[in-house]
Amino acid sequence: MSENIRVLISEEEIEKRIHEMGKEISEYYKGEEVHLVSVLKGGVFFTCELAKRLTIPVSIDFMSVSSYGNDTKSSGVVKVIKDLDEAIEGKNVLVVEDIIDSGRTLSYLLENLKSRKPKSLRLCTLLDKPDRRVVDVNVDYTGFAIPDEFVVGYGLDYMQHYRNLPYIGIVELNA
Ligand code: IMP
Ligand code: MG
Repeated sequence: MSENIRVLISEEEIEKRIHEMGKEISEYYKGEEVHLVSVLKGGVFFTCELAKRLTIPVSIDFMSVSSYGNDTKSSGVVKVIKDLDEAIEGKNVLVVEDIIDSGRTLSYLLENLKSRKPKSLRLCTLLDKPDRRVVDVNVDYTGFAIPDEFVVGYGLDYMQHYRNLPYIGIVELNA
C-alpha cells in the first residue's frame, strides 16, 4: 500500500497564521515572560516558528507523553515519556501542541502541569479537530480548525514519516 499527500493548508497560509498568533500572544503577555512547553515530537516545528514571532521574553522546555494501547485510537491513559527539565512553579506556561483530536492527551497534560502551580497555564495548538472531541479542553489559541481527516506535515506524522513537510496535507491511501 502507498499513500498520496493532498495539500490542505499551504506553507504560506501557515506562516501567515503563525505570524498573527505570535502577535496576539505577545500582546496578551505584554510586560511578562512566557515559558513555552512544547509537546514532543509533533509540537516542535510549530513551537520553533511561533517562538520566532514572539516579542516578549521566552523560555522553552519539552515534554513527551504517549497514550497506552494502540496508536490510532487514544486510550485515555497517558504516560510521561520525558518530563520537563525545569520547574514551572510561578511561570506563565503556554503549552504548544500540534493538534488536538479527542482531547485526552491535553486534558491529562494540563491537569499534570496545573498541579505544579504555574502562575498561569494556557494552551496553543496549530490544529484542532473539534468534531473529534471526547474530553472537553479549553483551547486559548488555535491556528486552524480542520475537518475530521488524518493529516501530516509541520510536525505531524503518519507512522513517523512526513513530519518534515512544510505544509499540512491529508493522507490518501492507495490500495
Ligand atoms: P488526542 O489525545 O486524541 O487529542 O491526541 C492527540 C495526538 O494524536 C496528537 O498530539 C497527535 O500525536 C495524534 N494525532 C491526532 N490526529 C492526528 C492526525 O490527523 N495526524 C497525525 N497525528 C494525529
Ligand atoms: Mg502531539
